[in-house]
Amino acid sequence: MPDYSTTIETVADALATQGYCILDHVLANTVNEALLGHCKSLDQAQFKPAGIGRATHHQHNQQIRTDQIVWQDSDNPLLAAYFDWIEQLRLGLNRVLYLGLFDYECHYAYYPAGAFYRKHIDAFKAQRNRMVSTILYLNPAWSAEAGGKLILYHPDDSGVLTRIEPLFGRMVIFLSEQFPHEVATTRQERYSLTGWYRVNRG
Ligand code: OGA
Ligand code: MN
Repeated sequence: MPDYSTTIETVADALATQGYCILDHVLANTVNEALLGHCKSLDQAQFKPAGIGRATHHQHNQQIRTDQIVWQDSDNPLLAAYFDWIEQLRLGLNRVLYLGLFDYECHYAYYPAGAFYRKHIDAFKAQRNRMVSTILYLNPAWSAEAGGKLILYHPDDSGVLTRIEPLFGRMVIFLSEQFPHEVATTRQERYSLTGWYRVNRG
């Protein structure tokens, strides 16, 4: 398994200074390709409309998001290389930033043409369980006209901070409580593997 220590230093530094980080090609291309192949091999029936809100008041709201997701298990050997990186990063962020990241949950997300995810925050301060969001994009041949950008807003919601193309192998990592963000309507099918490091707060 690769040693990601230099990359992890970069991520820790970026999270500490600006709260987010964009990595291109963090994983080997063969790994990204295998993940996309796995995602596409999943039966359409396994993709469920994603929910919003808290677990106990789970609701599907097509006005807010229209992507479809399939949760993944950390013991799935098809994701071993991905989870190795995720675990090295978890340990590194805990060592350098004392984040106390405890576990990680993730799902594939599929946005058909026309899909979007309106502005939202991944974690609410009162709840404080999701600490760090990660998104790995799996879109070969993404075109500039395809839309589907991730738009990050300033933490005080004063405007757009940056717009990010969901390019193949690109990974975006950000502090979950800090950044309102949205997925602009995509004109092309859009694939990603999205996850969250969580802290253990009973
Ligand atoms: C999410 C999300 C962003 C993206 O799933 O919570 O904000 O670029 N995804 O896919
Ligand atoms: Mn989000």
